[in-house]
Amino acid sequence: MIYADNAATTKISDRAFEQMLPFLREQYGNASGQYSLGTKAKHAIEQARKQVGAAIGAEPSEIIFTSGGSEANSWVLRNVAEIYRNEPLHIITSSIEHHSVLNSCRALEQIGVEITYLPVDSTGRVSIDVVKAAIKSNTKLVSIMLANNEIGTIQPITEIGQFLHEQGILFHTDAVQAVGHIPVDVRELRVDFLTASAHKFNGAKGTGVLYKRSSLELSPLVFGGKQERGLRAGTENVAGIVAASYALEESISEMDEIAKRLREMVNATINGVKERVPSVRVNGDTAHRLPGTVNLGFDRVSGESLMHLLDLKGVCVSTGSACASGNDEPSHVLLALGLNEQQAKSAIRISYGKYNTPDEVKTIVAAVCDAYGKIKANQ
Ligand SMILES: Cc1ncc(COP(=O)(O)O)c(C=O)c1O
Repeated sequence: MIYADNAATTKISDRAFEQMLPFLREQYGNASGQYSLGTKAKHAIEQARKQVGAAIGAEPSEIIFTSGGSEANSWVLRNVAEIYRNEPLHIITSSIEHHSVLNSCRALEQIGVEITYLPVDSTGRVSIDVVKAAIKSNTKLVSIMLANNEIGTIQPITEIGQFLHEQGILFHTDAVQAVGHIPVDVRELRVDFLTASAHKFNGAKGTGVLYKRSSLELSPLVFGGKQERGLRAGTENVAGIVAASYALEESISEMDEIAKRLREMVNATINGVKERVPSVRVNGDTAHRLPGTVNLGFDRVSGESLMHLLDLKGVCVSTGSACASGNDEPSHVLLALGLNEQQAKSAIRISYGKYNTPDEVKTIVAAVCDAYGKIKANQ
């Protein structure tokens, strides 16, 4: 099997796995326990908080562990709606966000919050001028992702952050696809809230990170005990949190070398496919793109059919975001780039990770071109 769907999830790294295991077997104490088995678990969480904070330029006290990216994204949006519940509220986001942001916005619309969904250009970039033009007197939050999960396009977050900071408007970025893959520093980005998710950087599934600038208000998500400073009650996922911290440290220490390798693999993929299928289109931005993610558009060939044929050959790629896969809707991201419905349904996403090799790239290129040829021949 060749796994090339790392934007959907990644294999846990050996080091993260080894570090999490003791917290499932020998040191399984509840972090609220007053005996040493409990205090050791508590200490491990606080150590992880320091490591994760340091990795993104935040203080440990600004890190809150969640169950994943979806939870952190939903929390930020709901929190702002809660804080401004007695005033007319306007929130700005982009039309290519992950569904955890988009569907949170739709839910807020139901309770009267006004949402602006910003358009993107044909490469998937949000322009600062479009952000500026959308600001209203009651705009309290802007939420724009750092890097897109379907096309890998990276947004000008620092530029937008600087502007919003001057305006005193809260800024959240969904950095789930970016953290561990490209440099992320919350102070440089000028963000107030940031979301990350461990299973996207070779940690375990079920652990997310919410960064919240220290001076900001956050209303509790789950009520109960005092975990996560009373903001998110419930017994902590100690093993997952420990794995997240080690996986993130490891990703950052290897980042330059791996990013270089991934870029080479993506370029080899594009060039290899282009040789045999000259009409192939690269969806997204070539200059501002995640190192390992590429979205390829094919001429009148269904992405879903390609994906299934590749699966039969043991190659895992995706037609878009994991959540959108499995339904027949064209990708909202590709539509936002200006593609028509048929084009938006003719794409596959290949996302490489640190365990992929150049030999696998050759196999993938051959498999994609063969599958394309087979579908075309039967049309
Ligand atoms: C950009 C982006 N945001 C949020 C999420 C949700 O993260 P999680 O799976 O940890 O809930 C994903 C996962 O696909 C994502 O790609």
